[in-house]
Amino acid sequence: MEKIIVKGVKELNGEVNISCAKNSILPIIAATILCPESITINNTPMLEDVEVICKLLAKLNCEVNFSQIDNKLKINTSNISPENTNTDLIKKMRASFLIMGSMLARFGYCKLCLPGGCNIGSRPIDLHLKGFKLLGADVNIGYGFVEVQAKKLIGNRIYLDFPSVGATENILMAAVLAEGTTIIENAAEEPEIEDLARFLNKMGARIEGAGRGKIIIHGVRSLKGIEYTPIYDRIEAGTFMIAAGITNSKIKINGINEEHLRPVIEKLKECGFLFSKYNENSIIVDGTKMKKAVDIKTLPYPGFPTDMQAQIMSLLSITQGISIITETVFENRFMHVTDLTRMGANIKIDGRTAIIEGVSRLTGCDVKATDLRGGAAMILAGLAAEGETRIGDIYHIDRGYVNVEEKFRKLGAEVYRIDV
Ligand code: EPZ
Repeated sequence: MEKIIVKGVKELNGEVNISCAKNSILPIIAATILCPESITINNTPMLEDVEVICKLLAKLNCEVNFSQIDNKLKINTSNISPENTNTDLIKKMRASFLIMGSMLARFGYCKLCLPGGCNIGSRPIDLHLKGFKLLGADVNIGYGFVEVQAKKLIGNRIYLDFPSVGATENILMAAVLAEGTTIIENAAEEPEIEDLARFLNKMGARIEGAGRGKIIIHGVRSLKGIEYTPIYDRIEAGTFMIAAGITNSKIKINGINEEHLRPVIEKLKECGFLFSKYNENSIIVDGTKMKKAVDIKTLPYPGFPTDMQAQIMSLLSITQGISIITETVFENRFMHVTDLTRMGANIKIDGRTAIIEGVSRLTGCDVKATDLRGGAAMILAGLAAEGETRIGDIYHIDRGYVNVEEKFRKLGAEVYRIDV
């Protein structure tokens, strides 16, 4: 079993290069099913989650080739066999469910095992299925599977009760080859949605308004193979911003789109961070100044991202004063509080609200990654803790951060992986 060891307290310096966005690449890989031609995705970080969806496509008889040399991922789904979808890979990684929209659009049929929930919440799929039904599909659920079927998909107006990222992406992929026009209202506005739409439009789709609450899709008959470079990972970048603040350091982050990080940057400025633009894609983060307690409410984009909640909680654990974090997106995303408390944090949970009273120091001990971002929060807390923090269940972290310990070591942190 592997563990990540973090030795605090170390000041960071230098620069870190951010990878392409996991939450862009996963739907983009699912979207390659829409087109029976070769597609190349550049700068692909071979994360655990990316490996799982690549294995899923390979199991469906697609050609999937990843080059370690240039991080190019080449996919050709022309020989896909849609009937092989009965695999545990869907349960292993929820985002695999994103292939349903593409499969329905290309073959008029798809049967997948119901995606598991996960530690952070029940993760329902009712909005995905609502969209498929409104596009003309029959939806049957039973025996742990969901089956969708349609002779033809017809454009329609779809209102999402919640701006679900996954539902917006799945419906978008189902609609690009539908007959007529589809309007998705109250759609998710995350940058990764815009990135998926940009990818599909480059393939020949006709999508307007992605990244805003109303997306209009004019169905087309076919799409063509392309080469594409996804956007940078705003959550990885935000994680390293917090690393600068929690160690009172100043670092340079390469691979940033400031607009995508606006909610995080504004909140960190309120907390005492200073930012200066280095160039189009790089920023200097000065986390050396005195921090002050802040209140946070996680919201769908452009609100403060739920995927940064655990990380900023680590920072606020040692920020003088009382900070309040309200998690409005997922029902169980405070699992990292237990281990932060063991490290000396003073945090009280009341439903979806965490009340954090900053303490003067954290101390290292044995902790676990409870989920992807909770694991990142443990690394961050370890950077600021006296002594050694030993993090277990790090497979959660590997799902969303590639070469994480190397990236921290390059900044001067003492972070390394051991086999125990
Ligand atoms: C995506 O998950 C991301 N994952 C998550 O990132 C991210 O936290 C989340 O969006 C919110 O931003 C990927 O993109 C692969 P949702 P997704 O559908 O699509 C409710 C990470 O750490 N809902 O927007 O599953 C649901 O219960 C991961 O990188 C319905 O009610 O998120 C939840 O409360 C974690 N019905 C809320 O919407 C539905 O049909 C947000 O879910 C679908 C969702």
